[in-house]
Amino acid sequence: MSGNRTFTMIKPDAVEKGHIGGILNMIAEGGFRIVSMKLTQLTVADAQQFYAIHKERPFFGELVEFMTRGPIVAAILEKENAVEDFRTLIGATNPADAAEGTIRKKYATSIGENAVHGSDSDENAAIEGAFHFAGREQF
Ligand code: CMP
Repeated sequence: MSGNRTFTMIKPDAVEKGHIGGILNMIAEGGFRIVSMKLTQLTVADAQQFYAIHKERPFFGELVEFMTRGPIVAAILEKENAVEDFRTLIGATNPADAAEGTIRKKYATSIGENAVHGSDSDENAAIEGAFHFAGREQF
């Protein structure tokens, strides 16, 4: 059975451009409830740990630099079938491939600066949520 929580970040590109409100509105209209949320900034060590799975990829350095260059919004979201439905709402990693009506179609500019993150599995949703909110989801 699929879980009912996922984890998201509104990335530095979208925060810089003033898109927090627009993206949260699409998340709410998509039927997601915000369980926990904060505005924060990742350190280099945070980003290296969060994206450790990509550490051998050629874009790893660029990814860490991008994700640490300004504030992000981190949030745990709740909805039935949350992981899959949220990935549908955000659209493809590369905005050039993202479907109409998705968050990345509207707000992302490139495969690297793609506005939002969404967990790719229930297991990663739990790990990523704990990374930012360990023991703090109260509701
Ligand atoms: P996300 O799916 O949130 O997590 C991994 C991130 O790596 C991805 O979003 C992109 O921001 C980034 N990424 C993936 N592929 C590339 C690429 N080819 N070049 C630069 N960044 C990438």
